[in-house]
Amino acid sequence: DWKMDAFVDETIKAIREKVGNGKVLCALSGGVDSSVAAVMLSKAIGSQLTCVFVDHGLLRKDEGDEVEAVFGPEGNYDLNFIRVNAQERFYEKLAGVTEPEEKRKIIGEEFIRVFEEEAKKIGTVDFLVQGTIYPDVVESGLGGESAVIKSHHNVGGLPDYVDFKEIIEPLRDLFKDEVRKAGLELGIPERLVFRQPFPGPGLGIRIIGEITAEKVKIVQDADAIYREEMDAAGMNKIVGQYFAALTNMRSVGVMGDERTYDYAVALRAVNTIDFMTAESAEVPWEVLHRVTSRIVNEVNHVNRVFYDLTGKPPGTIEFE
Ligand code: XMP
Repeated sequence: DWKMDAFVDETIKAIREKVGNGKVLCALSGGVDSSVAAVMLSKAIGSQLTCVFVDHGLLRKDEGDEVEAVFGPEGNYDLNFIRVNAQERFYEKLAGVTEPEEKRKIIGEEFIRVFEEEAKKIGTVDFLVQGTIYPDVVESGLGGESAVIKSHHNVGGLPDYVDFKEIIEPLRDLFKDEVRKAGLELGIPERLVFRQPFPGPGLGIRIIGEITAEKVKIVQDADAIYREEMDAAGMNKIVGQYFAALTNMRSVGVMGDERTYDYAVALRAVNTIDFMTAESAEVPWEVLHRVTSRIVNEVNHVNRVFYDLTGKPPGTIEFE
C-alpha cells in the first residue's frame, strides 16, 4: 500500500525532526494502537524512547508475558522497556466497586498514578506518546458532536501527570484498519497487528459488578478457551471482536450428583466496521458448543454459558 507506506515514512521522518535528541515516554498497553505508535517511535528515535507497560492485573491470560516477549530486552525493538506489576494495587482500589464508570475512573486514575511514579524515576521527558486513534477522539466527544457514551481513559485532554513538553499522537487521524496497515508496513508481527482491540480498563469492564482476583481468573480462563477455539475454527479471521465476560449472575446447576450454584459466562462476538455500530456474529453452533462444554468442564465456578445476540445499538460491544 503506497499511501500507507508514504504515511509511515513521512510520520517517522517528522517524528525524528520534531524529537531531535529529546527523550520520549510512551505508555504501552500491548494493544495494536500503542504497539504501532511505539514501533513508529522506536524506528524514528531508537532508545531515546522509553516504554512503560503497566500490568494492572486485568489483562487477558498470559498477555503480560506476551507483551514483554515482544517489547522487552529479549524482543525485537530498540527501546527501553519497563514492566510494572501492579496487580495487587488495582485489586485493592477496586474492592467493593460495582458501578461501571466508577470502575473505569478508578482503573484510569490508578493507571496514571503508577505511570506517573515510573515517569518520576525517569525524570523530565521532552515528549509523551499516545496511541490515540480517530474513533477514540470521536467517541469521547472531543472530535464530534456525539455524547460521551463511555469514558475512554486513554483520551481526554492533555495529561498533566508527567513532566513533558509536548504530546505526540502519530495515529490520531487513522481508523483501526489503517492502524493495522501501518503496523504491517512497519513489519510488526501479524499476530500483534491483528490482535483484537482490548479496552484500556481491560477485564475490569468484562466482569459485571465487583472485581475480585478470583473472578479475574475465571474470565481469563474462559476467554482463553473461547479464543483458542475461535482461532482453531478460523473465526478469528472473520469476526471483528470476540471475548468472554463474567456476568454477576449465579444460578443452580448440576454436576454428577451434586447441585451447584455457580457463575454464568457470557460470550460475545461482533462484526463491525468502525466500532460505533456492530452486529452479533454468526459463530457456528458447533464452535459455541465446544467452547461451552470446555468452559463448564475446565473452568471452576462456572456452570452456565450464554451467547449474546444483541447488536449495537442497543447493546454496546462491552458489557459495561
Ligand atoms: P463499546 O462497548 O462502547 O465498545 O461498544 C466499542 C469499542 O471500544 C472498546 N472500549 C473501550 N476502549 N477504554 C478503551 O480503551 C474503554 O473504557 C472502552 N470501552 C469500550 C471496546 O472494546 C470496543 O472495541
